[in-house]
Amino acid sequence: MPTDLHAWNALLQHHDTIRDTPMREWFDKGNDNGDADRRVSTFSVEAAGLYLDFSKNRITQETFDLLMRLAEEAGVPCRREAMFAGEHINATEDRAALHVALRALPDAPFRVDGTSVMPGIHDVLRRMQSFSERVRSGQWTGYTGETITDVVNIGIGGSDLGPRMVCRALAHLADRVGPRMHFVSNVDGTELAETLVRLNPARTLVIVCSKTFTTLETMANACSMREWFLANGVAEHQLACHFVAVSTNTEAVRKFGIDPANMFEFWDWIGGRFSLWSSVGLSIALAVGFDAFEDLLRGGRAMDDHFRTAPLAQNMPVIMAMLGIWYRNFFNMPTSCMAPYSTSLELFPAFLQQLEMESNGKSVQLDGRRVRSHTSPVVWGTAGTNGQHAYFQMIHQGSQIVPVDFVAPLVPPRSLPGHHAKLLANCFAQAEALMRGRSTEELHAAGITDPARVPHMVFEGNRPSNTLLMEDLTPHVLGALIALYEHRTFVQGVIWNINSFDQWGVELGKILARPIEGELKGDSVADTAGAHDASTRALIARAREVLSRQTSVPSN
Ligand code: F6P
Repeated sequence: MPTDLHAWNALLQHHDTIRDTPMREWFDKGNDNGDADRRVSTFSVEAAGLYLDFSKNRITQETFDLLMRLAEEAGVPCRREAMFAGEHINATEDRAALHVALRALPDAPFRVDGTSVMPGIHDVLRRMQSFSERVRSGQWTGYTGETITDVVNIGIGGSDLGPRMVCRALAHLADRVGPRMHFVSNVDGTELAETLVRLNPARTLVIVCSKTFTTLETMANACSMREWFLANGVAEHQLACHFVAVSTNTEAVRKFGIDPANMFEFWDWIGGRFSLWSSVGLSIALAVGFDAFEDLLRGGRAMDDHFRTAPLAQNMPVIMAMLGIWYRNFFNMPTSCMAPYSTSLELFPAFLQQLEMESNGKSVQLDGRRVRSHTSPVVWGTAGTNGQHAYFQMIHQGSQIVPVDFVAPLVPPRSLPGHHAKLLANCFAQAEALMRGRSTEELHAAGITDPARVPHMVFEGNRPSNTLLMEDLTPHVLGALIALYEHRTFVQGVIWNINSFDQWGVELGKILARPIEGELKGDSVADTAGAHDASTRALIARAREVLSRQTSVPSN
């Protein structure tokens, strides 16, 4: 149990001594003698094109040392090696979690169950390269011989969030050569229907992207997409030039009607939320070109090298993970906010939600015993400055403290004169305001003395944040950023002694939905077995009543 570790208990005691110390003391008092500057240089680290300033955290050198000791005692170095060695660290599914191999050089020694995985990975990469180049150059055409102008990625969860986020982040690199990308994930037909109205079937290519090729949402959307082609003049035998698949399940791909020759393989030792580096990234290669995709892989690899070799105390993913542990487990902060100051990174918080919450939202340890500490916080956020005008009020003055990660490219991917300085100024100012706060004395000194207002205008401050900067938002640095958060998630899972690579918590709802769907469609009598609770029974009855009044009941 992590809570039994010596360092955990030392941290508990240390927390008692530090928990009320205002961070601004360390900055204000140290301003004259250079201590504050030293704090910044001590509590900052650079790796793979990213600069992390973590000085605005509620830590002293002692805290930091204890956190690193906890990482050591919890076995982070050992578990990290087990991951890179392809051991079955995903114990409940008896699999390796070897996404790092996807971004490794061809001669890297990665093996799963004794067999090198590198030839397979690079074979698929070459096929992705050739396919994406054929589509982008116009050699791959639709059934009329016209070039492809639009690509629809149908997938959900890890088969959607990662590539969707990367395509959005690198949209500034999408040239006129590449097709327009569309992502459809929700089984709510509105999403697909609204996408289809913008598309010409003769010039549309579909990627059905699903690790299992059984996911309800993806299969429903893929079937509707096929119907749309057929209803719009494409014959069954012509569908081949409009559908490709990304999956681990060849048989299901064949059964759906996609020739396995048009399937891009990946493997069960890659978790869905860690899969954008595999053929799941085909949409990325199509949108911005294969060279950019390879650069993304190189960036991920640079972070892997750093994670694997840097001492814990200089290791960016480890440091970020341990700061998260400090707030989640010792300060009991239940949420954490991702605030990218970049519209290009606006989907990063959504990607991170799956990465962190599906990986570490668990209550049972690897040994089957219940965890005794809190695990994943609620992860949330949106792009700055929009968040400032929505929920930052709560982050500054709310009754719960929310640690924030600010992420900002110093050079804008696209900009209009004067905009970027305003954006960055706001990013830095938020972190400063959260740390410093504003006292009654400062308000008085500024001539604000109205007692009816002053208490409302005080900011307690002492609210922690990290600031992560990059020069340009290149594919390389984006790759490093994603890998950073992957490894941070993994390290936290090690501390909590949980399996970050399974997701049993998504099963039950899926199972219960099946009979309910039958009842809603009228295929089965409502609750024949009396299986539902009274509330669910009443909800189904209400929906059935409304659906029965519709002229046509939706069939899928
Ligand atoms: O429902 C959760 C989940 O299994 C995710 O872990 C996964 O990324 C997503 O569904 C999609 O799964 P698939 O790629 O098999 O369609």
